[in-house]
Amino acid sequence: MKIGIIIYSNTGNTNSVALKLQEKLTAGGHSVSLEQLKITGEWRPGSPGLNNIRLETIPDTAQYDALIFGAPVQGFSLSPVMTYYLQQISALRNKQIACLVTQAFPYPWMGGNQSMGQMKRLCESKDATVCGTGIVNWMNKKREQQISNLVEEFYKLF
Ligand SMILES: Cc1cc2nc3c(=O)[nH]c(=O)nc-3n(C[C@H](O)[C@H](O)[C@H](O)COP(=O)(O)O)c2cc1C
Repeated sequence: MKIGIIIYSNTGNTNSVALKLQEKLTAGGHSVSLEQLKITGEWRPGSPGLNNIRLETIPDTAQYDALIFGAPVQGFSLSPVMTYYLQQISALRNKQIACLVTQAFPYPWMGGNQSMGQMKRLCESKDATVCGTGIVNWMNKKREQQISNLVEEFYKLF
């Protein structure tokens, strides 16, 4: 299966999870591309205004059978960069979709669940059915366990 992992990662946490996913899915025989959303211009995380975000490129989802979207929680919400990106893309019909978020706080109710809800709704607004979700809490003592569970669960989806 041709899988695209499309992420935004400001400080590398989400990217480190994405790399583990890429490794596992590639070992399982899939063709996996990891694509990063990169900001250009003045906007920085914490700045207001979705409309001020500019991305270097808008990765094309059409070439993939399945997609994993990943992003950090920022201000108890999904990162505006991922929100902006998901608003730009075309329909995700007939593709398997999974979503992951990472956050600093130790428990998912501290912004992770809310961000995941936003991410799912954005995907569903593009006619997608989200078949898997995962939240990694960076300050949780069991973070490494959370990451390996997420990788195993996502591996079983595709
Ligand atoms: C502007 C900003 C706002 C943030 N807000 C939250 C938050 O509300 N809740 C939380 O748990 N972590 C918050 N964080 C921390 C990130 O979600 C966390 O460190 C995440 O794993 C970073 O992922 P990244 O390294 O892929 O960018 C915030 C970080 C930034 C830069």
